[in-house]
Amino acid sequence: MARPRARLRVGVLISGRGSNLQALIDAAADPTYPAEIVLVISNRPEAPGLAHAARAGIAHRTVAEPSRELFAREADAALRQSGAGLVALAGFMRILDSGFVEAWRDRLVNIHPSLLPAFPGLHPQRQALAAGVRFSGCTVHFVRVAVDTGPIIAQAVVPVHGDDDEARLAERILAAEHRLYPMAVRLFAEGRLRIRDGRVAVSGTAPPEIALLNPSEPLASAAG
Ligand code: GAR
Repeated sequence: MARPRARLRVGVLISGRGSNLQALIDAAADPTYPAEIVLVISNRPEAPGLAHAARAGIAHRTVAEPSRELFAREADAALRQSGAGLVALAGFMRILDSGFVEAWRDRLVNIHPSLLPAFPGLHPQRQALAAGVRFSGCTVHFVRVAVDTGPIIAQAVVPVHGDDDEARLAERILAAEHRLYPMAVRLFAEGRLRIRDGRVAVSGTAPPEIALLNPSEPLASAAG
């Protein structure tokens, strides 16, 4: 009988609430999911996400080092010791040292709550509302040194509603993030991603065919 393949070991970096971390923990609770979370690092000791790791019995620690370089050195050592083959940023709100980004090149992913390259940086939901876009969403991408850049692995499209404020839009996007991140990590763990010329080819999946309109086409009776 074929021996089951070892699961990919994943280290997760957080700064706050940790709901994306929780989504990854939930996905990995299924023994057939091809990845497991082996270490959680927060740059803030008060990050509520640390409690999610504790509850799930996952090794977790705070690296509150204010120097970018020293943070990177400590986090890198802990991640290597954990045997991580992938590092996932999940609401990690510090800019990473470029040496760290290069050391983990193509094994470092991030989730961002917009359809990159639109609305990088802070307050992407506020930026989407200000721009008046009808759709926003979220992106999982490989990390490169420039903030919120790097080859795109997967995106989810989320409609903007006329009465949205920043919090409502963020909540709707977050629900999509919780589906997208576990799927993207699965694709990585299954070896389905190839990066070529800065773009990611995904094998064994098909894109959807259907276009969404927002607003949807009005009913005839609503005209006038
Ligand atoms: C998420 O919306 C994530 O996409 C965003 O912070 C939130 C963290 O929530 N990340 C960024 O904006 C990174 N540029 P969480 O702590 O509940 O996962």
